[in-house]
Amino acid sequence: MNAGAFVNKQEIILAHQKHIFPSVFHYFKEPLMMTKAKDQYVWDADGNQYLDFFGGIVTISVGHCNDDVNKKVKEQIDTLEHVSTAYVTEPQVKLAMKVAPKTPGNGALSKFYFTNSGTEANETAFLTARLYTGSTEIVALRHSYHGRSAAAMAATGVGTWRLGGAPTAGFTHAINGYCYRCPLNLKYPSCNVQCARDMVDHIRTATSGKIAAFIAEPIQGVGGLITPPKEFFEIVHGIVKKFGGLFISDEVQTGWGRTGKYWGIDNYGVEPDMITSAKGLGNGMPIGITMARPEVADAYKGLTISTFGGNPVTTTAALAVLDYIDEHKLMINAAEMGAYLRGKLDELANKYDLIGEVRGMGLLLAMELVEDRESKVPATAAANAMLEAARENRILIGKGGISGNVLRISPPMNIGKSDIDAFADRLEASFKKVTADRMAVK
Ligand SMILES: Cc1ncc(COP(=O)(O)O)c(C=O)c1O
Repeated sequence: MNAGAFVNKQEIILAHQKHIFPSVFHYFKEPLMMTKAKDQYVWDADGNQYLDFFGGIVTISVGHCNDDVNKKVKEQIDTLEHVSTAYVTEPQVKLAMKVAPKTPGNGALSKFYFTNSGTEANETAFLTARLYTGSTEIVALRHSYHGRSAAAMAATGVGTWRLGGAPTAGFTHAINGYCYRCPLNLKYPSCNVQCARDMVDHIRTATSGKIAAFIAEPIQGVGGLITPPKEFFEIVHGIVKKFGGLFISDEVQTGWGRTGKYWGIDNYGVEPDMITSAKGLGNGMPIGITMARPEVADAYKGLTISTFGGNPVTTTAALAVLDYIDEHKLMINAAEMGAYLRGKLDELANKYDLIGEVRGMGLLLAMELVEDRESKVPATAAANAMLEAARENRILIGKGGISGNVLRISPPMNIGKSDIDAFADRLEASFKKVTADRMAVK
């Protein structure tokens, strides 16, 4: 068969399985082929329309194929598409100047290294921290996800995402603030947030005591939207600083207002030394960004290049996305609509025992499914069944958690009430079906 001569969807799916690796479909028994998208909707190859409440894995921040963003991107493509970082280009500088004042500590992170993905943003942060401190050891958290390169996999704290047994030399994993399944079997708040305080012992036992950095997602996305207690990062930050490390906030999922604050870490009152981000910044355009305090960034000396990093087209897209977020007050919308959606999810949790916990912030929400609320045994099969049922009901949601039992929900930040109502009805229909099917086999 020649490329371009496909006669139907099935042929494309077969060719995908033959030529694309790894040919794995994490979410569905049968592959789902998408052909177009607009705003909050995506259409499959059979013409079915879906309400997208996962946004291409927390990436569609201002709606699919956003007209305002794409207009500016099209103009830029016809003006200057690529010259490489060997030259100065205006969109890159404009983007840096837009973001710098918004960084924590009144714009303390004023230097930027642009790349193409969250993985690369984290790689850049690791190297920068090592160059600045002269140390190599980096502490991450259990249940974290930081990307797919060798170093980013090593930083990742979910075994199934460390394919090939990525060597973890230079990285250790401290316990996280997972109150629903406390790693110390304690109860918040009487626990006095021991999970965070354990960082002292961790650094003294699992590292040489001289660390380059600590990296964490303010809310652990792939790990199942694990949302630490409010004191967690402030305590950890104090300890990390005592041991000479930099604090890196991985905001690949939590940045740009999605949690109701501009940065996820703003919810915890901590000012990091570096922030990494990607995903929602480009609304689908491949862009990664590493932000650092100037004295930290200036330690990064010597030859380095990211051919596409800071490309005029992707930086134009990102600037347009951030302008759109500001002009349409989407951070406020994320807080308000997030609270509304959260209310709907809490209502479902009151009706369906399958839901062990609802958590998250703003429009970054999740439901952890359990076999029963007493044992909290992860309901992995039910989560898979929920994805299938959601597909049938024409809504897109995601999955996460170390046991694959957490449903992840992250619609575009410009979502409105009527779409949330429609989504909640369809999600309830999905829970009804899955619950009935489970009863039938008991
Ligand atoms: C928190 C976090 N960091 C890093 C990454 C890696 O980003 P990318 O897939 O763009 O390389 C991801 C991707 O899901 C992520 O969620």
